[in-house]
Amino acid sequence: MLHSVQSSPSYPDNMQKKSLHDLAVFTGKPAFSEPLHVGRPNIGNRAALTRRMEDILDSRWLTNNGPYVQEFERRICELTGAAHCVSMCNGTVGLELVIRALGMSGEVIVPSFTFIATVHALQWQGIQPVFCDVDPLTHTIDPAAAEKLITPRTSGIIGVHLWGRPAAPERLADLAQKHKLKLVFDAAHALGCTHQGIGIGNFGDAEVFSFHATKFINSFEGGAVVTNDAALAGRLRMMHNFGFTGYDCVESIGTNGKMPEISAAMGITSLESLENFVAHNRRNFDAYAHRLGGLPGLRLYRFPEEDRYNWQYVTLEIDPAAALTRDEIMQMLHAENVLARRYFYPGCHRMEPYRSLYPNAPSSLPHTEALVQRVLSLPTGTAVSDSDIASICELVTLALNNPDAVRKRLASNQ
Ligand SMILES: Cc1ncc(COP(=O)(O)O)c(C=O)c1O
Repeated sequence: MLHSVQSSPSYPDNMQKKSLHDLAVFTGKPAFSEPLHVGRPNIGNRAALTRRMEDILDSRWLTNNGPYVQEFERRICELTGAAHCVSMCNGTVGLELVIRALGMSGEVIVPSFTFIATVHALQWQGIQPVFCDVDPLTHTIDPAAAEKLITPRTSGIIGVHLWGRPAAPERLADLAQKHKLKLVFDAAHALGCTHQGIGIGNFGDAEVFSFHATKFINSFEGGAVVTNDAALAGRLRMMHNFGFTGYDCVESIGTNGKMPEISAAMGITSLESLENFVAHNRRNFDAYAHRLGGLPGLRLYRFPEEDRYNWQYVTLEIDPAAALTRDEIMQMLHAENVLARRYFYPGCHRMEPYRSLYPNAPSSLPHTEALVQRVLSLPTGTAVSDSDIASICELVTLALNNPDAVRKRLASNQ
């Protein structure tokens, strides 16, 4: 069933910025009176959510595998086609638990071009992340580079479906099988996506989703591990509830990784609007592609058409030889209240503790090093309208048509 989606009003005050001096880095008013975020939450049907919240309060079943959590897990299985879903309080805990439940240890190969949680989930448990470079076209882990990093201490690989793009699932599965490694996918960006017609959630030993507020389907905070391995699902279920197997009976070490009912209610409500959210994202993507397509030095990250995507990221790649650098374009947009983000700058290997632990990592990650300098995520989601996108693209065009003046002005503003 499709529900109406609550979209926010757009706030362009002076859409028509005709001259350079209209730009906010000069003397103009910001184009948006309120910040326009990259991941402003999508809100589904408020009435449906409110009804569910009332129901939770009436029943006083607030957490511990309540009816909404069970329904949410069922719906995730239906959507992905996977057999088991264990919901979690967030995606990071999901990653930590699946890494532990699979017995990963020693070294695990992971891309550096990802959100820091993917890598922290290993280091947090005393496992050494071994950074692997990415394919410059797909932005996902390069399986050939991964194979070269395998040592006798390697116990697994974590691929990341960055931007919702499947991270070479078959090639990584072959590699994992050949070298007897565990394989997990960080699918935080990839709910509702498919690879060769198969739902994300069915690859590797398990896949981990995030339903953080910034994700296109959110449960305020939340995550899930999805797998076709019943024994693994059972271990995860026990581990995310302190190791309990029944009243007064604890069978193993565990933690508290449970999703509460209120999050599941939000998750279900979001899922009911999934098709609307995807359609809105797709329209936004096409609007950006149409308006930015012809600008020299700029390229939108594209997806092959044969599979399904959720289109929740609009990633602009700015050639270092473009008239303005990525950072100059970002500074210009920030002055206009357009909070474009340099995801995932500067790369996990350049963040602590990894920067100090692996000071030589940059030399082995040339594609990652190049990408973190050229990508810029643009605002999208249901809070962003077609006219917002028209304004953003006008700003970029105006700045790129006057690069020397913009550069000089940005330098003098610092
Ligand atoms: C690629 C990636 N992995 C993991 C996470 C962590 O998920 P969570 O915030 O639900 O813990 C995120 C985002 O938040 C992410 O973007």
